Amino acid sequence: MRLSRYFLPVLKETPAEAQIVSHRLMLRAGLIRQEAAGIYAWLPLGIRVLNKIKGIVHEEMNRAGAIEILMPTLQSAELWRESGRYDDYGKEMLRIKDRHDRDLLYGPTNEEMVTEIFRAYVRSYKQLPLNMYHTQWKFRDEVRPRFGVMRGREFLMKDAYSFDIDAAAARRAYNRMYVAYLRTFARMGLKSIPMRAETGPIGGDLSHEFIVLAETGESQVYCHKDLLDMPIPGEDTDFYGDLESIVRARTELYAATEDVHDAARFEREVPAEKRLSARGIEVGQVFYFGTKYSAPMKAVVTGPDGKEVPVEMGSYGIGVSRLVGAIIEACHDDAGIIWPESVAPFRVALINLKSGDAETDQACDALYSQLNAAGIEVLYDDTDERPGAKFATADLIGIPYQLVVGPRGLSAGKVEIKVRAGGARQEMSPDAAVKYLVQGI
Ligand SMILES: Nc1ncnc2c1ncn2[C@@H]1O[C@H](COP(=O)(O)OP(=O)(O)OP(=O)(O)O)[C@@H](O)[C@H]1O
Ligand SMILES: [Mg+2]
Repeated sequence: MRLSRYFLPVLKETPAEAQIVSHRLMLRAGLIRQEAAGIYAWLPLGIRVLNKIKGIVHEEMNRAGAIEILMPTLQSAELWRESGRYDDYGKEMLRIKDRHDRDLLYGPTNEEMVTEIFRAYVRSYKQLPLNMYHTQWKFRDEVRPRFGVMRGREFLMKDAYSFDIDAAAARRAYNRMYVAYLRTFARMGLKSIPMRAETGPIGGDLSHEFIVLAETGESQVYCHKDLLDMPIPGEDTDFYGDLESIVRARTELYAATEDVHDAARFEREVPAEKRLSARGIEVGQVFYFGTKYSAPMKAVVTGPDGKEVPVEMGSYGIGVSRLVGAIIEACHDDAGIIWPESVAPFRVALINLKSGDAETDQACDALYSQLNAAGIEVLYDDTDERPGAKFATADLIGIPYQLVVGPRGLSAGKVEIKVRAGGARQEMSPDAAVKYLVQGI
């Protein structure tokens, strides 16, 4: 992408309304634009990151055996009356009437709808286990939308729903999502810690929140420090094998969010030097809630004994749009964002230090087409800005590699690569630079 033909509205000033660094940087780097309280438009750079995050989430969902669907944002109130949640949900739910005066709502979550889909088609335990997921916009009329996309009113969530014949199978489904979450967040460069959590309006017996530690986090959390350095299950993990040992290794160490924290137990179970009390961001949550929805909504299946039972369910959310903010909270410096490679909007910022100079333009154009041909995403700064401004923009928007090309270097047959994380610089020939950027060596 040539910057001269792109839309990258970076801001020079720090926006006064933004209280935390990720919100400030998202506005300054031109990722988002606020359209109403807690409601954002995603600008070109922002949507690229959002899509990368969503891509990783979907890969890991698929790997764990979940199946993608897409449910609508608007839902019929009828469904929610069946589960009893239409009245319970309160003011957070955006209620809408259509022209026929029928009650609709903008979905804050999808347990009811997915249960309705399930009961329409599935009759037998032989069709289980089943896990269906989608990534869709949600609306919750939060009392205090704040911190940009961290606590929006409209936000993008991946939500998965599992269906099983009995509690033991449901537990295995829960473990699959638990392990998939560990992998998902690690792939985005985040250290996530699963912590015992309250089940809230979703309801149920068993739940973990996946927390990323950050001073600006909204949750107070308590855990054993060893949880910070646990190995991440590999790509070759057998999701239909025994995951209990992976889950148990974590759940036997103390980790709890404020709502379920037990100070006496914390002190009893965790040696003083291993106690961590910190702020954290909830990037995902997994719930097992049994028959809370299937019983009232009559989502039943016949078991091997021919008897009908309500299906055992769980739900599993990831805050896809919140993650953009969470990653920036974890990955930035004074100059701007430092995207982990896996979610970066582009891999390379190609910086032409003297646009208009024939030799420099030619060298940049050649690098640009070679990198494009190799499938590398390049943002090519071919504008007339001063070098200083180009460097500042590249640092601000956080692209992992800067490929700097100017007349002085070229006369010695060299270009420069700067790694955004850490700032290491290296001079090399243009060919070597292409190799380095393509192969990462
Ligand atoms: N208002 C919001 N803005 C952005 N992301 C959100 C918001 N509410 C929830 N999420 C994300 O969606 C995920 C799944 O939703 P869940 O129902 O667990 O949210 P929640 O527990 O109500 O969130 P919170 O406690 O932060 O209000 C959360 O883990 C979080 O990452
Ligand atoms: Mg939650």
